[in-house]
Amino acid sequence: MELKVNGQLRALPAHASDPAMPLLWALRDGLDLTGTKFGCGVAACGACTVHLDGQAARSCVTPLASVAGKAVTTIEALGPDHALQRAWIEHQVPQCGYCQSGMLMAAAALLAKNRKPSDADIDAAITNLCRCGTYPRVRAAIHSAAARLGGARK
Ligand code: FES
Ligand code: FES
Repeated sequence: MELKVNGQLRALPAHASDPAMPLLWALRDGLDLTGTKFGCGVAACGACTVHLDGQAARSCVTPLASVAGKAVTTIEALGPDHALQRAWIEHQVPQCGYCQSGMLMAAAALLAKNRKPSDADIDAAITNLCRCGTYPRVRAAIHSAAARLGGARK
């Protein structure tokens, strides 16, 4: 089976080709894209967030069969020069860091749709859990990145 990931068509090895396998494991164990994290496995925490055709999706509950022909984007595609990555550093968002790739992918999906998100928009879109409690910094960094991308509020 092939997967379109980060702009490339990648062949999945046999051990990561079961159509019922969650996308998360195909990415991590099949393609060594380990930036996407396993947290809860039941679509509750958002650590495993990737984009499917530009929409944020929880890869731990997304069977491989359902992503055939879709473009998968992972944190590895959000390079260090991306406005969000820079804002994350500027605001020193990560604490333990575990949830942060999922946070960034959720934030990227939000900014792709809404260049001027309000705090309420952010709270509605970013339902990811962070046990370190970085939520205020996540919000501040999203506003910063939005400003950098030309969609500043105020
Ligand atoms: S690991 Fe997928 S939502 Fe928690
Ligand atoms: S930074 Fe530790 S869980 Fe979010």
